[in-house]
Amino acid sequence: MKKLIAGNWKMNGSLAANEALLREIAAGLPTQAACAIAVCVPAPYLAQVHELIAAMPAVALGAQDVSSQAAGAFTGEVSASMLREFGCRYVIVGHSERRQYHGETDAMVADKAKAALAAGVTPIVCVGETLAEREAGQTEQVVKRQLAAVIHTNGHCISEIVVAYEPVWAIGTGKTATPEEAQVVHAVLRTQLKAATDQAARVKILYGGSMNAANAASLLAQADIDGGLIGGASLKAPDFLKIVAATPV
Ligand code: PGA
Repeated sequence: MKKLIAGNWKMNGSLAANEALLREIAAGLPTQAACAIAVCVPAPYLAQVHELIAAMPAVALGAQDVSSQAAGAFTGEVSASMLREFGCRYVIVGHSERRQYHGETDAMVADKAKAALAAGVTPIVCVGETLAEREAGQTEQVVKRQLAAVIHTNGHCISEIVVAYEPVWAIGTGKTATPEEAQVVHAVLRTQLKAATDQAARVKILYGGSMNAANAASLLAQADIDGGLIGGASLKAPDFLKIVAATPV
């Protein structure tokens, strides 16, 4: 399966900075990248980035959140069909920052994934344990509960999602799960997907959490790590390009 390297810009960027970053990425991308590439950008910049990447066929567009509702009186929300209209192929749902700062529950995340799928946008469903949960030996239980909600709500469509395992303690901290630690959790998620669909082998399970140019190759070499969701390092073109280059076929 082709691996996916997705940048999560979070709440960073400006019209000028986005253009400079994408121009640098475009200049450094190999003509035939071995992996699929995406950038998940803040909603106001979707139109700008959609236009800028029109000349970069290897790069797909993604958003960082979506409403679970199709339309209506939901002030501040953005629907999946709106994302679709601006060329989004992906949308991140249930990122730990949304779960933590915006009170998103497993059920809400599952509904957002459903709304995305209904509009033809691939949800990148984030799961991951906190440091306290890991230290309490609850990692498996937590990620399985988070994924179970999405499986329950999305039934046979589950093979259409992308999963991102992002240990909360590794996000933005410079601490990365070791390749072996990450693989253990990815294998658990794969097994859970296998119980839900006979297409589990083609569901991409990304790793996220301080992935960078130095550690990408060893993480991406693991059997069940099908790509990366990259925060900080996706904002620096040389780093992002190095991760792309380090991605095994
Ligand atoms: P990070 O973020 O690479 O900066 O740790 C990853 C993410 O939150 O998606």
